[in-house]
Amino acid sequence: MRITVCRKEHFNAAHRLYRPDWSDEKNDQVFGLCNNPNFHGHNYELIVRVTGEVDPETGFVIDLKYLGNIIKEKVANKFDHKNLNLDTEEFKNLNPTAENIAVVIWDILRAELDTKYDLKVVLYETERNFVEYPAD
Ligand code: NI
Repeated sequence: MRITVCRKEHFNAAHRLYRPDWSDEKNDQVFGLCNNPNFHGHNYELIVRVTGEVDPETGFVIDLKYLGNIIKEKVANKFDHKNLNLDTEEFKNLNPTAENIAVVIWDILRAELDTKYDLKVVLYETERNFVEYPAD
C-alpha cells in the first residue's frame, strides 16, 4: 500500500533574476520585476511529498517529525532570510527561478532520504505561481 505524505515548510528569501551576459533591456524584457537590481523578496512555501509503503509496524510511510527536521536543517536554515544570489553557493551561477530552486531543494533532500521513497517538491513563489519537480 503506497501512500504520499506531505510536509509544508516556509522560508523567506531575496533574489534577482538576470543573466550577466544579456543587456539590461533583454533582462528587463524577459525577467520583468524579478530583474530589480536591488533584489526583492518572496515568501516561499515548500511542500515536500514523500511516497512509499506504509510500514506495518508503525503505520507510517516516514516519520513526519524526522522529515520536518531534515527540511528545516538542510533547506529552510540554508535559504531562510538569505539573498539567494549573494549568500548561497547554489545560486552564485544559477538563476534563482522557482524552477531552479525546486530542483536544488530536490537534490538536497534526495541525498538525505532512503532510495525506497519517491520524492516530489512543490514550491510556491507566490500564492498563484508554483512549480513541481519532478514533473508529472
Ligand atoms: Ni522574484
